Amino acid sequence: SGAVRVAVLGCGVVGTEVVRLLTQQGADLAARAGAPLELVGIAVRDVAAPRDQVVDRALLTSDAESLVDGADVVVEVMGGIEPARGLILRALRGGASVVTANKELLGKDGPTLYAAADEAGVDLYFEAAVAGAIPIVRPVRESLAGDRVTRVLGIVNGTTNYVLDQMTSGGLELGEALAQAQELGFAEADPTADVEGHDAAAKAAILASLAFHTRVSVAQVHREGIMAVTADDIARATATGHVVKLLALAERSGDGVVVRVHPALVPQEHPLASVRGSFNAVFVQAEAAGELMFYGRGAGGVPTASAVLGDVVTVARHKVNGGKGPIESRYAQLPARPVSDAVTRY
Ligand code: NDP
Ligand code: HSE
Repeated sequence: SGAVRVAVLGCGVVGTEVVRLLTQQGADLAARAGAPLELVGIAVRDVAAPRDQVVDRALLTSDAESLVDGADVVVEVMGGIEPARGLILRALRGGASVVTANKELLGKDGPTLYAAADEAGVDLYFEAAVAGAIPIVRPVRESLAGDRVTRVLGIVNGTTNYVLDQMTSGGLELGEALAQAQELGFAEADPTADVEGHDAAAKAAILASLAFHTRVSVAQVHREGIMAVTADDIARATATGHVVKLLALAERSGDGVVVRVHPALVPQEHPLASVRGSFNAVFVQAEAAGELMFYGRGAGGVPTASAVLGDVVTVARHKVNGGKGPIESRYAQLPARPVSDAVTRY
């Protein structure tokens, strides 16, 4: 079959790393998708701006609509509500599958996008929209589809976890720590989305919708950010054996759900207390499965690109392979090596 034409919308922190993986891992991705993934263009605001050398400047365009119209798979990593929303709808209605990292949009208007994907019979995947590299969306959406989830609890914003961690262990002021998080590419374009809890609330809304098979919009999430957390709060927490964390929690309550995001005192011996820097962790409680824990890098261009590319391979495979799963039958065999020191290493 022919190549799958992939359009990337956005070439910032995440988009650049998506382009890098598409460019440098082309042969492996083609083998896994069942066809070559051809990067047909990259939409940006400013085509003249300096870019990482991995970006082929001939692929840059400011005409995102035309790019979308010529693609089989559209990767939306530009962020914000418009034009991202209009472009995603245009892609879906035109028959392209969409991969997005845009939690703000999904948290606000996910159902419109899900309906458009259903009507068009194409995929809308968004693993990168919650907790960066951590596979959490697909486990909740797919692996737990046969179970009954009762509670989702975790740390889903890398920037605020980094800031609180630096305030706790590095003795930094909130502002200094936030500047570092921005420099490292963890923060949103407008970092108030992180520190005021909007980003975590959007992620909580997405997870709650998936976990409880319902519609939760970000407006229904109780939200408090970290701006009111002071050095004194941190010191008092430490003195009493606690760590301050921005928690997101969604749980069944009667015939409804409660979803909330707020700073909380976590006992130092709790696993969430050892989630450091920009890492995230999510606990999911389900009736049959019991408690599950997901942990990993929650922000940053490279980790997030991993989640995006996983989705790209999956939706491309669906296009190539008629909705079937991985094509392991075509995999080559690697030589098995003898185990030399299995007892001393792990
Ligand atoms: P950046 O601000 O670094 O990059 C945004 C990119 O989109 C830029 O290349 C920009 O173009 C382009 N862009 C923005 N608006 C337009 C527009 N109107 N038309 C064309 N291009 C546009 O953002 P990030 O890479 O950090 O984030 C992208 C998305 O990924 C967001 O939805 C974010 O929430 C999400 N995300 C980010 C993570 C992270 O750790 N950074 C982790 C998980 C998800 P130009 O370069 O010309 O300005
Ligand atoms: N700004 C977000 C965070 C990026 O810090 O978690 C990952 O979604």
